[in-house]
Amino acid sequence: MVQPSVERVSIPYLHELKKKKEKITALTAYDYPTAKILDDCGVDIILVGDSLGMVMLGYETTLPVTMDEMIHHTKAVTRARKRAMVIGDMPYLSFHLSLKDSVMNAARFIKEAGADGVKLEGASPQRLILVEALVEAEIPVMGHVGLTPQSIRKIGGFKVQGTEEEKAEAIYRGALELEKAGAFAVVLESVPQELAREITRSLKIPTIGIGAGPDCDGQILVIHDLLGFTTGYMPKFVKRYADLAGIISQAVNDYINDVKQNRYPEDQHSYHLKKEKAGPFLQRLRKKFGQGKS
Ligand code: KIV
Repeated sequence: MVQPSVERVSIPYLHELKKKKEKITALTAYDYPTAKILDDCGVDIILVGDSLGMVMLGYETTLPVTMDEMIHHTKAVTRARKRAMVIGDMPYLSFHLSLKDSVMNAARFIKEAGADGVKLEGASPQRLILVEALVEAEIPVMGHVGLTPQSIRKIGGFKVQGTEEEKAEAIYRGALELEKAGAFAVVLESVPQELAREITRSLKIPTIGIGAGPDCDGQILVIHDLLGFTTGYMPKFVKRYADLAGIISQAVNDYINDVKQNRYPEDQHSYHLKKEKAGPFLQRLRKKFGQGKS
């Protein structure tokens, strides 16, 4: 466990870490027990990502996730948090229509769910206007460029972005403009390490990488990927630190076998009547309800 050096992670603290070249740690969480473990371990940022649609709700993409679902899960996470900064991820279509509705949706994360800020994908001119409006409304914003899963239909798959110069330039410019618009940090997802290094050097705000190499100011992973709780396709950048799916399968199989073989529950898992009361007590029950009744 790391020794957390602040009682509550703040934006100035994260900026200080960048200055001191101390890495920022971030992970996703979507529920109370997971968030509690991450917070106790001293992770700096807990992101309630819209990845919840895929890893918790079983959708193929993040697109169906709603504001209400995000608020529900963010509330569970903030109930568990003592030290970490909690960021709520703005789901698809919650910040694409009117500026007013977008600000109101972002404000729900703060007012209703107790989050410390929001994350939103993209750096189009409209997005930058929104970032400015959110900052003006005292809502801290984490940007997100590179692979932006909400654009999956346009991108055509979860693949590395910015390998060609034109796209790399757009990602670079996007990150710079997000900083200018007031974002306090920016996620770089699935971009070449060399590009992430250049962007990280150019920005005053921290970069948080996922599939962006080791030179970002911090790293984030989806907790289910790190724990081996998800099965199936896994991006190259994921490091599995555990095989939770294997551990759970083993435990559930053991349980099924124990129940079938009458090995569970044992005496230690059972309640008993007091010995002196049991005889007459059971006799009366039998008389009333069954076996003892004549
Ligand atoms: O939704 C999410 O979990 C994310 C992270 C992968 C950065 O956006």
